[in-house]
Amino acid sequence: MPEQGRTKAIAVVGAQWGDEGKGKVVDYLASSFDYTARYAGGHNAGHTVMFNSHRHVLQLVPSGILRPGKKAVIGPGAVVDPGALVAELDNLKKSGVDVRGRLFLSNRAHLIFPYHREMDQAAEAARGAAKIGTTSRGIGPAYEDKMARRGIRICELLEPDCFRVKLERVIAEKNAISLAAYGHALETAGLLEQYLEIAAHIRGLVADTSVLLNSALDSGESVLFEGAQGTMLDIDHGTYPYVTSSNAISGGAATGLGVAPTRVTGVVGVTKAYTTRVGSGPFPTEMPDLDAEEVRARGNEFGAVTGRPRRCGWLDLVVLRYAKMLNGIDSLVVTKLDVFDAQPEIKVCTGYRYKGQSITEMPPDVETLTQIEPEYKTLPGWKKPTPGIRDVRDLPTAARDYLNFISDQLQVEIGMISTGPERDATIVPRGTKLASWL
Ligand code: GDP
Ligand code: IMO
Ligand code: MG
Repeated sequence: MPEQGRTKAIAVVGAQWGDEGKGKVVDYLASSFDYTARYAGGHNAGHTVMFNSHRHVLQLVPSGILRPGKKAVIGPGAVVDPGALVAELDNLKKSGVDVRGRLFLSNRAHLIFPYHREMDQAAEAARGAAKIGTTSRGIGPAYEDKMARRGIRICELLEPDCFRVKLERVIAEKNAISLAAYGHALETAGLLEQYLEIAAHIRGLVADTSVLLNSALDSGESVLFEGAQGTMLDIDHGTYPYVTSSNAISGGAATGLGVAPTRVTGVVGVTKAYTTRVGSGPFPTEMPDLDAEEVRARGNEFGAVTGRPRRCGWLDLVVLRYAKMLNGIDSLVVTKLDVFDAQPEIKVCTGYRYKGQSITEMPPDVETLTQIEPEYKTLPGWKKPTPGIRDVRDLPTAARDYLNFISDQLQVEIGMISTGPERDATIVPRGTKLASWL
């Protein structure tokens, strides 16, 4: 049996505001791991994986499930809308992906109910212009209930009598809140029957996933932790309150899966060659409309789940430095390099100025973040196509200079470069830590 903590256990995290290309990266790495495990968030995530010209969008099911024979876990730190999960499993089945015997759902994960979606939408409407721009999936209200200790978990759903009692109690409490705050009761008719029916579809997946993963690691099986959202959307460290309601950073893998931090052997951070953000909130390097439209068109920057146009901006090294620190990033993946193939000049934010002073740390508050001015360095573009290149030495010189600049500024290796959405549009430079994990 290998020594505890030595088995390969690598976390993949978003280093920006989500949609960095984690799905593609996890899919690429997953062939070298036994398990992929999702530790936070819910079906607010949309992880796109493309191979053989087929596009899969995964929301809650880890991307590693697309690798035949590999096992996948949805951990206790995730929130689960069981109806959405069943719909996702149906889609996978239609695409020929059979999850039987290799997808495991935590018995401790909290459930999302339709009233969470209603509360999400009502809270957003009440905020008016200050709305967060959530995905309206009920994620925030479900985590609220979990923290308020009135959440209902998968293990309770599987015990009809216990589930009925809990649900009735919660509905009474929720209705009182909804009536007082929004003037109407919630839509709860038929909820019990609906959830008990769905329970029959997921019962076979349910397991104590913390025991499962720790036993797997004990016996030498490797695990890839799949982050959702991104560092700047983390509830504790992101641009609060314009964040999601869970811990997206690598530490979330430990709490969200019940795998001790001492067992995590490496962290991969994923960044685009530029920056995007969906929803409201500060975005220091956001581009002027015309530039943003061009990047959005070339990068097809529309939400994988909601179809919303993504806001586009230049790469922000203050954000990435912060992300490196918070996550302990050992290796950085740069995706969507090809989107800059026709770009004459590329701006990179190297620091912030606030009221005329240089600041190097990420300000904690939205008020400061909306007033800071980014300091840019301008680098030449390469004006050559990059898709199809498989060796980093074959990249145009200006593209290599751009990557080296990022790596030097952040003092971190670039372990992978992505030049297209397809699985094989990927470069893994030799001799990197990331290459050693394959
Ligand atoms: P995730 O949430 O981090 O998994 O990212 P999304 O899947 O939401 O968004 C990333 C989008 O970029 C998807 O449409 C991917 O297919 C696409 N993509 C990933 N890597 C590349 C790349 O290197 N080049 C291009 N052009 N598209 C990419
Ligand atoms: P992946 O895993 C990008 C954003 C929403 C909103 C905020 C709060 O695909 O990278 P929520 O519905 O979570 O309460 O919304 O967080 N958001 C994401 N943005 N990618 C995601 O996931 C996101 N998940 C949530 O747009 O601004
Ligand atoms: Mg996404």
